[in-house]
Amino acid sequence: MNGTLHIYPDAQPLTEALAETWARMAVAAIARQGAFYVALAGGSTPRQLYARLAQEPYRSSVDWSAVHIFFGDERCVPRDHADSNYRMAHEALLAHVPIPAAQIHPMFDPAMSPGRNADAYTAQLLAALPLDENGLPVFDLVLLGMGEDGHTASLFPGTSLLQENERIVAAAYVEKLQAWRVSLTFPAINCARAVTVTVTGEAKAAVLESVLTASALTGSALTKSSSAYPIQRVAPRGELHWFLDQAAAQRLPENLRR
Ligand code: 6PG
Repeated sequence: MNGTLHIYPDAQPLTEALAETWARMAVAAIARQGAFYVALAGGSTPRQLYARLAQEPYRSSVDWSAVHIFFGDERCVPRDHADSNYRMAHEALLAHVPIPAAQIHPMFDPAMSPGRNADAYTAQLLAALPLDENGLPVFDLVLLGMGEDGHTASLFPGTSLLQENERIVAAAYVEKLQAWRVSLTFPAINCARAVTVTVTGEAKAAVLESVLTASALTGSALTKSSSAYPIQRVAPRGELHWFLDQAAAQRLPENLRR
């Protein structure tokens, strides 16, 4: 199985542990390179984390002036739309900590098409982030969630983005949602120094068991052909940490829970 599992009784201790991890990585990155480059996850799960980071001790312990906020994916809606990941992060965290506005990078501008947004975001990442030996941007941390179908970011089963190996940001029309999305692709995610995947709730227990036991069977990163779920293609060069509550982890075999 790829990565380290961290399992907590419920969302409260999970959120506390994830906030401590986030802050530790931020402090280390700022000490190392004078900046912390992080891609935030969307959906509903991360809201608790973002609200916790806006409180003490993190409000004071993180040098927010050196934090650079990006997004792992975005719905193609205005930034004040109820579905906007930017709006959720702004309400829970970004409006409450002193990050310079120029260091907050929303992923979608309704004045441009989804494809043009993906191109513009690619340019922003290449201009702002350190690049690896292949010219790919290196995030210090990418936060991810997982859907009940095993999607992550906006990398949904059956969409063309799963095979994207060149572009680091791409747009796709997601049939099941009947909506356009913009998303980091696996090349960008897997370049990160660290990735956390947060999965909570009983509804995800079955898919999480399939995702993690299949990886365990192969003992290493799943090949592209064998990874039935998009999340299984997350195999960062750096650290991979799964933050799970007991409800989501309840079907995992004992050997994965140690
Ligand atoms: C999004 C997210 C998406 C999310 C999962 C889990 O924009 O919706 O990036 O990948 O992480 O769908 O969503 P919940 O946290 O709401 O369960």
